Amino acid sequence: MKVIGISVSARKFGNTELLVKEALLGAGEMGAETTFIRLTDFKIEPCEGCINCVIKRSECVFKDRDDSMKIYRMITEHDGLILGSPTYILGVPAILKMLLDRGMAYMYGTGRPNLGKPAVAIGVAGVRGWEAFTLPQMAVFLLSLGFRIVDQFVAYAQGPGEILFDRNAVERAHRAGRLLIENTTEYRGTCPSCGQNLFRLTKDGLIECAVCGTEGEIEQGGIRWVKVEKRWGEEEVIEHFEKKILPSVPRFLKSRHKIKELRKRYLKK
Ligand SMILES: Cc1cc2nc3c(=O)[nH]c(=O)nc-3n(C[C@H](O)[C@H](O)[C@H](O)COP(=O)(O)O)c2cc1C
Repeated sequence: MKVIGISVSARKFGNTELLVKEALLGAGEMGAETTFIRLTDFKIEPCEGCINCVIKRSECVFKDRDDSMKIYRMITEHDGLILGSPTYILGVPAILKMLLDRGMAYMYGTGRPNLGKPAVAIGVAGVRGWEAFTLPQMAVFLLSLGFRIVDQFVAYAQGPGEILFDRNAVERAHRAGRLLIENTTEYRGTCPSCGQNLFRLTKDGLIECAVCGTEGEIEQGGIRWVKVEKRWGEEEVIEHFEKKILPSVPRFLKSRHKIKELRKRYLKK
């Protein structure tokens, strides 16, 4: 089994990188062949919103402009992924979101070559309670590509390398790498569908999983799940593509002359 570890941190040998590498050591112990990359060593440009990947069902048409497609191809060549991200302002650094947006090609354009592959998410934060979006955003990255999140956790450290003083975190990372290969987990999440812990209140007074849309009612003593969504499942992604994305293309083409007329008043800078 080939496992790739990706650190989203720009800090060389920072906390994220060290934990991802520790997890890779764990996976290696279980017989995996491992590779490590640092996302910030690559050039990643923002998505231009042309949706050619969706319409033409291809890789991004700007694939030669930067390394995004190269990274996706590297991910696809591996059987498992260990993704590590630091927390920047409550969530992941922008570079991961930029890569994710370019990844529409790997959701709709090229199909989902990573469907069903195992992944581990390791978040790093400086201050407990200041990381609410980190794992959910990492989960969106992984689930949208079709990965199964086998294990996930957040570790806490501030200065680069300080995580090495936290033996529990280092051992947890090591175990996560082993768990990826064993296909078992130590993680217990709240959402019954995607396992994430980030919810919002709907106007009907329900709670809704921010990552997959599963809904529940808060009752005394717990949550009663009333609608379990599988937003990132195989069929659901195809249905979303066919029912919500594809019909927008002829609708837009039909109305584009009218839009051109209406937008005249905004042309001046
Ligand atoms: C720009 C920036 C924003 C940060 N924002 C947060 C934050 O919102 N919450 C938090 O817990 N830590 C925050 N941190 C601290 C980092 O998550 C922490 O230092 C972590 O160990 C960095 O991991 P690294 O060494 O792998 O880069 C921030 C750090 C930076 C540089």
